[in-house]
Amino acid sequence: MRKIYIFDTTLRDGEQSPGVNLNTKEKVEIALQLEKLGVDRMEAGFPAASPGDLAAVNAVARAVKNASVIGLSRSREQDIDAAREALKDAQDPCLHLFLATSPIHRKHKLRMEKDQVLETAERAIRYAKQYFSKIEFSPEDAGRTELDFLVQVTEMAIRAGATVVNIPDTVGYLNPLEFGNIFKTLKENVTGIEKIQLSAHCHDDLGMATANALAAVLNGADQIEGTINGIGERAGNTAIEEVALALATRADYFGATTSLNLKEIAKTSRLVSKLTGMPVPGNKAIVGANAFAHESGIHQDGMLKEKTTYEIISPETIGLKESKLVLGKHSGRHAFREKLIDLGYELEDEAVNAAFAKFKDVADRKKDVTDEDIHAMLEEKLAESPSIYSFQTIEVHYGNQSVPSATIRIEKTNEGVKEATAEGNGSVDAIYNAIDKLTGEEVELEDYSIKSVSHGKDALGEVHVVLLQNDVTAQGRGLSTDILEASARAYVDALNRLIDKRQSPGRRDKMSLI
Ligand code: KIV
Ligand code: ZN
Repeated sequence: MRKIYIFDTTLRDGEQSPGVNLNTKEKVEIALQLEKLGVDRMEAGFPAASPGDLAAVNAVARAVKNASVIGLSRSREQDIDAAREALKDAQDPCLHLFLATSPIHRKHKLRMEKDQVLETAERAIRYAKQYFSKIEFSPEDAGRTELDFLVQVTEMAIRAGATVVNIPDTVGYLNPLEFGNIFKTLKENVTGIEKIQLSAHCHDDLGMATANALAAVLNGADQIEGTINGIGERAGNTAIEEVALALATRADYFGATTSLNLKEIAKTSRLVSKLTGMPVPGNKAIVGANAFAHESGIHQDGMLKEKTTYEIISPETIGLKESKLVLGKHSGRHAFREKLIDLGYELEDEAVNAAFAKFKDVADRKKDVTDEDIHAMLEEKLAESPSIYSFQTIEVHYGNQSVPSATIRIEKTNEGVKEATAEGNGSVDAIYNAIDKLTGEEVELEDYSIKSVSHGKDALGEVHVVLLQNDVTAQGRGLSTDILEASARAYVDALNRLIDKRQSPGRRDKMSLI
């Protein structure tokens, strides 16, 4: 079996998804889970984008021990220097340099001729080579670059010292036959191709990112780049879990494998969704809630007779377990701890105690506490924001013939508990008006979504909000058996993140440099 290296860019291209903005703590959290998943390489960010990005890449570089940590850089010395600084503590650092090569980008974006592109990239690679032994070079928009020029660019990158040449289909334009043909052409025509690894980086604008990545594998790619849940710029990137499962399930066809620990996929997907605030669609391949659900009678009958009739991957493969033990309000600390271990959480005593308190609170209001509930509670705790405000209590008056009103109590660090009442055109509006009154913050509610964590009328509700203040956005999450309480918690969480961002001036808000 040929090994395919997995280069995860959830923390860089994934973070370029509109509205997503991970803080350093969240990036480290995801990075450590990616390490558990077993990715070979992870791109932690774009250090030159802002001091905050540089600090986040540095924090990931210090935390991760078993994967190469990568920083993105334009083909400029100051970007390379920022990446050097960010990656100085990494066990296995790598620089990812890029420069656009397609005629459209050369003409309109760079205003460079072909030889200037070659010169600029070569100068950058040679400069970087003094400091990095591992360099990946990406001819941006390779998918729309003339093939003979791409051969020239790849030869230049090899001569200058790149160790990986990555072929990005930056705008998701190609189909699998065309994309596969690029790899075949490079393999057959580039002098020195055996000295480097070839990598594929696809976007999903036409829904072909995974198919294109697999076509690259069939034509000699050594590495696939992608993100968890396929998040990323515009329609997103190749979903790593899809590539890994396609290779594992169809090993007979691809003859290639990855080093991923597939059992960590479900957990990684949930964490990324939680921290980015990007829900996973129910019908999403591999990690969608319906990916293993069988609805039609004929399918259910087949499944009962023999699972392989309708199931090509078992849920256990990606770490989903059929729960044998459902917890409730009489469950004790011991059963709870056992459940945590069973679900793959290794927590210190103090964290178990905090999680147990939250569990008891939920179990008081909900008959059965399912695995999904526990995952949601735990992930909410793990992702807790730096809190200036903490939510205390809520009381809402609603009638369809009267004006809704809400009374909220929140605690402000060093100032104690405050209470305010406000009206609104609905219960959530009243709650948010009351919180605004208490905090004095002027924010716009950019997005609000709600979903149930598990099934049943008493299911936990999870609310996700995005707040906007002077061009800075922050997202927040709230979890409760009551959706109004979850709404209040999500809003307070987002406010805390907004204030935290405002107080860390080094943080950029939107990816703006590429
Ligand atoms: O899609 C793209 O071209 C990129 C590059 C920076 C590799 O993300
Ligand atoms: Zn990309």
